[in-house]
Amino acid sequence: MSQLKNDLLLRALRGETVERPPVWMMRQAGRYLPEYMALREKYSFFERCQIPELACEITIQPVDIIGVDAAILFSDILVVPQAMGLEVELIESKGPVLPYPIKTIKDFDRIRVPDVNETLQYVFDAIKLTKKELNNRVPLIGFAGAPWTILCYMVQGRGSKTFDEAKAFCYTQPEMAHRLLQMITDTTIAYLKEQVRAGVDVIQVFDSWGGLLGPDDFENISLKYIRQITNALKDDVLTIIFAKGAWHSLETMAETGANGLGIDWCITPQIARQLVGDKITLQGNFDPARLLSPIPVIRKEVKKMLNDFGGQRHIANLGHGILPNTPVDHAKAFVETVKEYKTRIMSYEL
Ligand code: CP3
Repeated sequence: MSQLKNDLLLRALRGETVERPPVWMMRQAGRYLPEYMALREKYSFFERCQIPELACEITIQPVDIIGVDAAILFSDILVVPQAMGLEVELIESKGPVLPYPIKTIKDFDRIRVPDVNETLQYVFDAIKLTKKELNNRVPLIGFAGAPWTILCYMVQGRGSKTFDEAKAFCYTQPEMAHRLLQMITDTTIAYLKEQVRAGVDVIQVFDSWGGLLGPDDFENISLKYIRQITNALKDDVLTIIFAKGAWHSLETMAETGANGLGIDWCITPQIARQLVGDKITLQGNFDPARLLSPIPVIRKEVKKMLNDFGGQRHIANLGHGILPNTPVDHAKAFVETVKEYKTRIMSYEL
């Protein structure tokens, strides 16, 4: 395989010394970029995901426009339930809707663990094309949702602040819930292995709703399945787990064999580091709403974040996805401030 020109992200994940932390932003592809909005006018969401040339173009936009140190494939976590047989719609200003969610045992007749090469080939084609177009400028991140987060949408059928119906499903029908979680896990492992074969350099698992579960439920309903995924991938690719709000389980997540752990802004870098020890890289944790502050304030806050993480074993990122109303200049200020940072070398001048 040819050499990446900018491999800061890979080095930070392997725990090697870096000149400065790498920087990228969750949900950097799409949402706030005018170049993306122009494509959004012309093509539906799933067209944007399914036409490799479009997915590739959207993936590379933030590398060209914002200057991030990594690209993340333009796709969505909900392509997995779609491939398993559920209908998924994306309704403007409402978000995802799954009109026929999983509620009873009968609904299992409608889903299966699919052959990912039949159902998700377009993702692998988009990865191959993007790797070619990136031409080794920066690494490419592939991703999938954590099984619990995917179950939330498959059972609730739409977004929610509490996912109470998904939780009730797990608590009242645990056998069915675990059967579904295992089907999602098996699909996700096959899917991510093919993403790796197609060329991604890093995999991130998004558990956006992990923080809705208490520590015991998080272990049984979420982390148990994430662990199967990281175990299946650890010899093939570098992995990052981002379980939003699940700071109570950072210590156990650090033992999964993942190379990186994402944290949000509700925990300090210092406390997170104490919990995970020194053998894993932390990613985060700028509050995306803080990108709405004036640029001088953003710069000051980013410097503080960088100091708090200490310069090594850190991937500068937001604590969740960039907000759609973020001014492009502000996103650039975030990235530039990280790029100007020089890791302090602990030596005396003689
Ligand atoms: O990071 C990236 O830029 C790559 C692309 C990406 C998208 N979705 C594109 C998208 C990624 C990594 C995701 C992950 C995703 N999708 C998550 C996990 C991360 C998180 O933010 O918690 C979740 C929970 C989803 C489900 C989903 N897809 C929702 C809730 C929505 C609607 C609102 C929104 O924008 O988040 C989507 C649609 C979606 N996925 C859009 C994009 C760019 C917006 C579609 C549009 O209107 O253009």
